[in-house]
Amino acid sequence: MTVVNVVPGLMLFLLAAASAPAQAAATASSRRPPFPRARLAPPRRAVGVAPPAADGSGNASTAAAKQPFTAHFFPQELDHFTFTPNSSRVFAQKYLLNDTFWRKPNCTGAASAGPLFVYTGNEGDIEWFATNTGFMFDIAPEFGALLVFIEHRFYGESMPFGNDDSYNSADTLGYLTSTQALADFAILITSLKTNLSVPDAPVVVFGGSYGGMLASWFKLKYPHVAMGALASSAPILQFDHITPWTSFDDAVSQDFKSESLNCFSVIKAVWDVLDARGSNATGLLELSKTFRACKTVQYAGSLTSWLYTAFTYTAMTDYPTPADFLQNLPAYPVKEMCKIIDAFPAGADVVDKAFAAASLYYNYTGDQECFEVEGEDDPHGLNGWGWQACTEMIMPMNVSSESMFPPYGFSYEERSESCFESFGVRPRDHWITTEYGGTKIYQVLKRFGSNIIFSNGLRDPWSRGGVLKNISSSIVALVTEEGAHHLDLRAATKEDPDWVVQQRRQEVEIIKGWIDQYNQDIAEMSQ
Ligand SMILES: *[C@@H]1O[C@H](CO)[C@@H](O)[C@H](O)[C@H]1NC(C)=O
Ligand SMILES: *[C@@H]1O[C@H](CO)[C@@H](O)[C@H](O)[C@H]1NC(C)=O
Ligand SMILES: *[C@@H]1O[C@H](CO)[C@@H](O)[C@H](O)[C@H]1NC(C)=O
Ligand SMILES: *[C@@H]1O[C@H](CO)[C@@H](O)[C@H](O)[C@H]1NC(C)=O
Ligand SMILES: *[C@@H]1O[C@H](CO)[C@@H](O)[C@H](O)[C@H]1NC(C)=O
Ligand SMILES: *[C@@H]1O[C@H](CO)[C@@H](O)[C@H](O)[C@H]1NC(C)=O
Ligand SMILES: *[C@@H]1O[C@H](CO)[C@@H](O)[C@H](O)[C@H]1NC(C)=O
Ligand SMILES: *[C@@H]1O[C@H](CO)[C@@H](O)[C@H](O)[C@H]1NC(C)=O
Ligand SMILES: *[C@@H]1O[C@H](CO)[C@@H](O)[C@H](O)[C@H]1NC(C)=O
Repeated sequence: MTVVNVVPGLMLFLLAAASAPAQAAATASSRRPPFPRARLAPPRRAVGVAPPAADGSGNASTAAAKQPFTAHFFPQELDHFTFTPNSSRVFAQKYLLNDTFWRKPNCTGAASAGPLFVYTGNEGDIEWFATNTGFMFDIAPEFGALLVFIEHRFYGESMPFGNDDSYNSADTLGYLTSTQALADFAILITSLKTNLSVPDAPVVVFGGSYGGMLASWFKLKYPHVAMGALASSAPILQFDHITPWTSFDDAVSQDFKSESLNCFSVIKAVWDVLDARGSNATGLLELSKTFRACKTVQYAGSLTSWLYTAFTYTAMTDYPTPADFLQNLPAYPVKEMCKIIDAFPAGADVVDKAFAAASLYYNYTGDQECFEVEGEDDPHGLNGWGWQACTEMIMPMNVSSESMFPPYGFSYEERSESCFESFGVRPRDHWITTEYGGTKIYQVLKRFGSNIIFSNGLRDPWSRGGVLKNISSSIVALVTEEGAHHLDLRAATKEDPDWVVQQRRQEVEIIKGWIDQYNQDIAEMSQ
């Protein structure tokens, strides 16, 4: 089994959770690149430190009590696209509500009700996304908005076949698709509006990363359910050949190079050294000590993956303020990592330098006694991405020799083989662009579709696969030079630089324009 190698994971920010992490290592030894998307381990949390209660690992009722939302469950149909006997089976889909700021409908009719702001959940526990999407809470008061966060099927507590069986096999996982997820959102939102007696209230969908892809696709597929979408850091053009395959790792490399050429060169030099030293048991034992591994590392590839994760995730979350999204990090963490590398005497060992830099990512709070280099944990419940990356989410990525990472070439055939080995299924390589488009998007959407904001920060390597130019007067791209992975969706802080404040303000103004227009249209039609 080589799951890991394959499952390239990725996503978005999370690049991914490999589905069978245990084997990560097994592969690494035999094949050279355990690399790029080789092991897509989920973000790690401090060993022995409990994840926040709300991230799904804990007691739902306890978590809800501490969080600014209430948890609800909706009986969702398993399969929206067939009428086979099992399709109408239902599962409990979780969603979160906050109605504190909502302008409820009054006797003048439903048109007086405030909008619904709905987060289209992505590949993890919905509480985790809700707590990292403070922007929606920040702006709800001025809109009188009802906040809704819907969990994606097969993540968190929304397991169609229960916790134990949902991931059993392709028979159950087969129901984990983006199209089913979008239909879930449409049905749940419609039901909620009916129950609240606000059939005409405007709905704006929000999402970041894969959730942003879902938000934009939702607006295009279900314009009668959502009248607008804010798709933050949504790499909807990372498919097929739309975006150069090397863009992701080139962008990460560029982030580091922009801080210091030495930093870039040190990182670029470390991979061959690791491979050479890790080629036998003695070397691995030494390396395990250097990396303060909790257990002796069995494969040099695991160290490569561990470092790769640290550098790419840090680039993604290169926020201008301290944040705890994937890990606790200081402001501008790429700059901080490079300062660590640059502070070493030039002749120092590159492995020591790279390890010290990666420690910023894994141990910024200083609470790690050792590192689980080959261990896996999944505090945010990202496990299903491995399946998604083996079915629909085929985002080919090469690593060029210009980057700071070991070169790597993506191959559809290899992906297919490893997915078949891992899950017994083969990817549909071009399904996403067939289903949602993406090719020639600037022409195609110029006169089709409306009311979508694509926001991206160029420090985020995923931005290269995003929509970076305006498409029409209402499908707009907001791009910030220094932004990182869905920074705009994070809660405002006092230290926010002006450009983030302005970006968020512009988003609010655009959404206001959509809602005003919508209400005006409704009013005219009801006359
Ligand atoms: C979860 O919370 C409920 C309600 O507060 C409590 O009754 C229950 O004992 C808790 N369960 C655990 C495992 O903590
Ligand atoms: C909604 O969010 C606000 C801001 O975080 C919080 O003060 C309020 O208690 C929340 N309301 C509910 C019902 O959770
Ligand atoms: C339908 O569900 C039942 C019970 O879970 C299962 O035994 C059966 O194999 C399913 N049938 C199909 C065609 O998936
Ligand atoms: C109902 O809501 C509308 C819009 O917020 C407001 O203008 C109106 O005064 C409200 N009417 C009552 C009776 O509260
Ligand atoms: C709306 O009400 C129905 C009937 O009580 C319920 O089954 C359904 O779950 C509710 N919808 C939502 C989104 O909670
Ligand atoms: C292990 O590899 C290193 C570096 O290639 C080499 O110097 C050393 O002799 C090897 N040790 C053993 C026991 O093979
Ligand atoms: C984590 O950081 C603390 C504080 O700097 C240090 O004492 C500890 O050794 C570090 N843990 C590891 C595994 O390097
Ligand atoms: C990706 O890398 C492979 C292997 O080096 C190469 O054959 C292929 O042309 C590259 N594809 C692109 C689009 O860069
Ligand atoms: C898109 O248009 C908006 C104004 O509607 C403008 O502020 C923004 O800079 C434009 N985006 C790009 C990438 O040019």
